[in-house]
Amino acid sequence: MAEATSARPTRPRRSVLYLPASNLRAIDKARSLPADSIVFDLEDAVAPAAKPQARDNLRAAFAQGGFGSRELVIRSNAISSADLAADLATVAACQPHAVLLPKVSSTAEIALFADAARQAGMAPGTATWFMAETLAGIQHLPALLAAGAALPNRLACLVVGTNDIAKESGVSVQPDRLYLLPWLMQMVLAAKLAGVPVLDGVWNDFKDSVGFEREALQAQQMGFAGKTLIHPSQIDAANRQFSPDPAALAQAQRIVNAFALHHHADAGVINLDGEMVERLHLAQAQQLLAVAQQISALGD
Ligand code: COA
Ligand code: MG
Repeated sequence: MAEATSARPTRPRRSVLYLPASNLRAIDKARSLPADSIVFDLEDAVAPAAKPQARDNLRAAFAQGGFGSRELVIRSNAISSADLAADLATVAACQPHAVLLPKVSSTAEIALFADAARQAGMAPGTATWFMAETLAGIQHLPALLAAGAALPNRLACLVVGTNDIAKESGVSVQPDRLYLLPWLMQMVLAAKLAGVPVLDGVWNDFKDSVGFEREALQAQQMGFAGKTLIHPSQIDAANRQFSPDPAALAQAQRIVNAFALHHHADAGVINLDGEMVERLHLAQAQQLLAVAQQISALGD
């Protein structure tokens, strides 16, 4: 039986900022913003007539560099679209850390993408990310994640697209996402079982920082690794929300120290200040400390 492998530490993706690849000002600004990852969008945020110029912008921006340790991702148009070949040629030229495929809905499409990526000469080091944002994509997610794991450009992250889900389904977005929650948790479950980090959708009303913080807290409690963002004003709150809490880190260190004591070397369970602590808690504590170490290595 497959066990969830999401405990494997991956790079921090607390704040994953989209920007339209047609927007030169935003591309330049990304070089100094404290986002963990940047998603240069060629899909919905770019008007059809502006897509060729947007691809040229990306080639120039990647050639110039200056993005530091940020993870760089290019979002292509949908696999079925006439834009895919030109988008993947851009990805092959830019060699970002990942290509984000929108609206992934069937394993047949994933096979088409694998062919197109090969033809475009996509670098082996470029990972694949999927968006889960269609009803078919939600329904078939376990099979899609399995097909993603078998890609030569291996699936490394799942991104939930809440705007498209609300649009296609007609589900009304209520406070705290009441009716969307079962689908969101279903996607978290599938991603965790597949060992793939999963990122929450965007908060559109970027002037409403209170609403954003509330949703980011909810996303963190639901098990998302981070939140996708649309505006620089959302970055600091996301970084804060998805960083391990100092009290939790201190407790993790206490657990690690306790199990390291000579007389606990073979213990399966110990009494730590009146609380039962098992080896599974030790594993959790070690993972939390590893995440914190990776975040501090980012230097923010
Ligand atoms: N990435 C980088 N910089 C951004 C940015 C982003 N996503 N959104 C805004 N900025 C910059 C602006 O260029 C501006 O910079 P400046 O003041 O130094 O010139 C500054 O942040 C303030 O921007 P603001 O005036 O508040 O917003 P705007 O009207 O310029 O842009 C949006 C508003 C929504 C159009 C813009 O935030 C955006 O395009 N977001 C991303 C949309 C997207 O990619 N969607 C697809 C996935 S859902
Ligand atoms: Mg979308």
